[in-house]
Amino acid sequence: MPELKRLGFLASGRGSNMLAIIRACESGRLPASPVLVISNNPDARALQLGSEHGLEALHMSRRTHGDAASLDQAMTAAMQAHQVDLVILAGYMKKIGPQLLSAYAHRILNIHPSLLPRHGGRGMYGMHVHEAVIAAGETETGVTVHLVNAEYDSGDILARRTVSVEADDDAESLAARVLEVEHRLYTEVLGKILSGEITLPE
Ligand code: GAR
Repeated sequence: MPELKRLGFLASGRGSNMLAIIRACESGRLPASPVLVISNNPDARALQLGSEHGLEALHMSRRTHGDAASLDQAMTAAMQAHQVDLVILAGYMKKIGPQLLSAYAHRILNIHPSLLPRHGGRGMYGMHVHEAVIAAGETETGVTVHLVNAEYDSGDILARRTVSVEADDDAESLAARVLEVEHRLYTEVLGKILSGEITLPE
């Protein structure tokens, strides 16, 4: 397998998962270089964090690029121009277009704050996921890292980690505990991909 060490991020909001990965790279725990972050949201904290840490930070959306195909093409071109090897979704709330999917087949990762396939799919993102977990009376939830395909939250699962739901949890308290596990698991999975312990399909 070729070396997969230049990282490109897609993020819509806060960017804490991206930051955890950037910090792991900066401290030498992860042998990779974060080079680019693209956001559909010009006000995303993720863009600001990316700039602060020396990444190229680009706002790209239907607002900047018009139709979906042009946007898909521009995002793919930006990833390729920065010689990105692995695309990391970190709280990115949009579907990935067919060009980016085919240019980076089996090289796009996502993190989801539940034990997929439970509580995934359209509309299931961020706090909505934790609210659904509480409403369903689950006693455990967790984190899933998976490959991205054309559907929401349905690509091959690379790793999952369980988090217990406590009787007095609300969506906020649960989200905070799950998020800590997200930061650790995403970095760990990337480490295993880079070391060859996890092999991505060719
Ligand atoms: C994270 O909890 C991530 O798992 C979730 O959005 C949050 C983003 O936080 N992603 C999804 O729900 C994807 N379906 P962050 O911007 O601080 O990383």
